[in-house]
Amino acid sequence: SVLLYKEPFRPQFHFSPEKKWMNDPNGLLFYKGTYHLFYQYFPRDIVWGPMHWGHATSKDLIHWEHKKIALFPDKLGLIFSGSAAIDINNTSGLGTIENPPMIAIFTYHNMEIEKAGKINTQSQGLAYSLDEGETWTKYKGNPIIGNNSLKDFRDPKVFWNPETKLWNLTLVAGDHAQFYSSKNLIDWTYMSQFGKNRGAHGGVWECPDLFKLQVENSTTEKWVLLISINPGAPNGGSGTQYFIGDYDGKSFKTNQKDIRWIDYGTDNYAGVTYNDAPNNERIFIGWMSNWLYARNTPTKNWRSAMTLPRKLSLEKIGDNYVLKNNPIQQLKTIIIPEYSEELLTIQASRKIVFEYNNLNQSQIDFKALAKNLKLTFSNEVNDSLVLIYDHKMNTFSIDRTHSGLVNFEANFGKSIHKTETPNLTTPTLEYQIILDWSSIEIFLNGGVYSFTEQIFPNKPYMKLSIQSNENQEIKNLSIAKIKGIWETN
Ligand code: FRU
Repeated sequence: SVLLYKEPFRPQFHFSPEKKWMNDPNGLLFYKGTYHLFYQYFPRDIVWGPMHWGHATSKDLIHWEHKKIALFPDKLGLIFSGSAAIDINNTSGLGTIENPPMIAIFTYHNMEIEKAGKINTQSQGLAYSLDEGETWTKYKGNPIIGNNSLKDFRDPKVFWNPETKLWNLTLVAGDHAQFYSSKNLIDWTYMSQFGKNRGAHGGVWECPDLFKLQVENSTTEKWVLLISINPGAPNGGSGTQYFIGDYDGKSFKTNQKDIRWIDYGTDNYAGVTYNDAPNNERIFIGWMSNWLYARNTPTKNWRSAMTLPRKLSLEKIGDNYVLKNNPIQQLKTIIIPEYSEELLTIQASRKIVFEYNNLNQSQIDFKALAKNLKLTFSNEVNDSLVLIYDHKMNTFSIDRTHSGLVNFEANFGKSIHKTETPNLTTPTLEYQIILDWSSIEIFLNGGVYSFTEQIFPNKPYMKLSIQSNENQEIKNLSIAKIKGIWETN
């Protein structure tokens, strides 16, 4: 149904469900040349409802194929977020060595318990597939991790720990993360917890992830703990914080005192990373929305999309380890260069204006002196999206208050989103800006900062103006079209 993908606001190179409601990415797993993307899905409406796991696959993380629904609610509950792994040594005994089982570990949310007025509605369940994710069987001994007393107890992330040669799992319990280990993916031993007195606590902790990264230009390795929280994000509603520390297979420790976010825009939530991605890469996908207004965005047949898949890396800037995220290399395969310019000098308070027939399917990148810079995307019906880097204040702001449709929900276009950017320390700054029909993703200095936001322009943006209140230099500017992934050649 290629036609469907031409609806107003339909992303042309981001993953979105063919129809109906989607939230968190789940079960991100690479196996036998295929990237699997499962996701929180409600097949009957475009608002959240009894959760299933939708499923899509890709060979390159760019082009996606929609698959059948993988997991349906059952007597034990709705199927909330979770993860997937290949049990290559058949430790679970649910497959064979020749055909190792694909294992999904997810949260059951039990409506009967909720109706009975009790709080321990969430437990962890397991399902397995012997045909690479096509069909699934629920484990008969579910739940594998029960719950007697906790209100919020969910979003298990499972991974193989080669250092301890055990399966590890992290999940969240309201205001902290818990760590478990197992020999067989079925029987889990509680090890420790982290976070009651650390990080942001403006809302419930959700969707944890835990993985190791090597620090760039060094032999140091650090563990990264991702924790989504809702509400309590820096620009309102949902957001994902991270901790850098050490993990020995039992407990996570950090001396990080400050609060850090993987993305400072409003629309990158519940993101987690792939198990078993090739070349030891850490690939992240987030849900490109925010619980503040996710149910109200102005689309009709479907609701919401995923961020571009991003590669995570660690850089030491000053005394801090900074988690960077950048669009995956494969994006280059759908970038069609249209315009480039080696050097543009901008006189103070003069504008440079570019006109295109559609900037909502494009990538703009350049370097600029670390001085003030203002970029405005606009169209003929006076929608405008304004990005400002303020050098003196060292802030980056996004003003979508007049970017198009904004009043479908009070919070969406209420304020300008301003972020302090102390980690921008170079004399020139690198900008990479990617626009789809209902989103903008901005990466500064190779992902030292990223900002992801939804936008709903009434007409595609056709004009980009670049200006500054001081003399500026723009180097290596390129404006490119991005090919739609649902288009055939
Ligand atoms: C995060 C979340 C998860 C939960 C799922 C339910 O967006 O609230 O914590 O498992 O969504 O759909």
